[in-house]
Amino acid sequence: MTTAPYPNARFRRLKSSAALRALSAENTLSVSDLIWPVFVRDGEGQREPVNSMPGVDRLSVDLLVEAAREAADLGIPAICIFPYTDPRLKTQLCEEAWSPDNLSNQAIRAIKSAVPDIAVMTDVALDPYNINGHDGIVRDGIIVNDETVEALVKMALAQADSGADILGPSDMMDGRIGAMRRALEAAGHQNVTIMSYSAKYASAFYGPFRDAVGATGALTGDKKTYQLNPANSNEALRLVERDLSEGADMVMVKPGLPYLDICRRVKDRFGVPTYAYQVSGEYAMIQAAAAQGWIDGAQVMQESLMAFKRAGCDGVLTYFAPSMARVLKG
Ligand code: PBG
Repeated sequence: MTTAPYPNARFRRLKSSAALRALSAENTLSVSDLIWPVFVRDGEGQREPVNSMPGVDRLSVDLLVEAAREAADLGIPAICIFPYTDPRLKTQLCEEAWSPDNLSNQAIRAIKSAVPDIAVMTDVALDPYNINGHDGIVRDGIIVNDETVEALVKMALAQADSGADILGPSDMMDGRIGAMRRALEAAGHQNVTIMSYSAKYASAFYGPFRDAVGATGALTGDKKTYQLNPANSNEALRLVERDLSEGADMVMVKPGLPYLDICRRVKDRFGVPTYAYQVSGEYAMIQAAAAQGWIDGAQVMQESLMAFKRAGCDGVLTYFAPSMARVLKG
């Protein structure tokens, strides 16, 4: 034991002033820990609120570029694009997913040309383009793995060709990281990074997001045949190990706060760049309670984001990114 008996040791001494509390803080949260997920829609000059995510809007590409510029000015290192796709473009085989001119690829090009310093992250999964809302191609009611992986590779290459810096495979198919990595190397995209959604759980906390991307009505059934069972923790480690062995540069745990134990285990076991996604439902709960005056929204935002750092994360995808960055800036 390194702690003297009372009164030689008093834990309150180091809490007795702001200066001492700052000196003895074990973790810090900085703007460079934040990745900002954003929703893009078609049109020009369009800003459309997402009802279930107060404070979050779907933006047309021109306004998204302005938002990316503000994020970069605040020091936010990365922005992550999710498209709200016109239902008429959704098909069984999800061909829109690898169209060089889909909304997401248009947004990547526009942001990289106007705000080159911000890293652009993408979502690699078929759900925004799938007539049945699943992350993979569905045949006879089955989400088919290997055919989906081929589609995801085409999608990943189209995003890399458009200038994406970080690919975020969120589909949970087996074999996708290795297949994408091989294709990226073969295409000369040596520096395109992959942040794998390695430990992505089948979670009801994604509800508001599915509204935001217009997948709510489309989804038939659930995603339990590919996303992780919330009861499992060892399996998350095996998935992280598998994705690293296939060439992932960074790994992610998702959702965030309910899965901090997984973040900690991943960081302790592998010591690799580890991220968490504070998902739409987590954001919505905080915003809803704050709007009722039941919690102090700004303080809960900061406390929740610090929790990720304490759990060992190197960064967090959060819809609070600009608000948090403004607080950090003072
Ligand atoms: C789908 C995807 C989801 C999220 C990110 N990518 C939803 C899902 O798997 O159904 C959720 C993000 C959030 O809830 O904020 N590929």
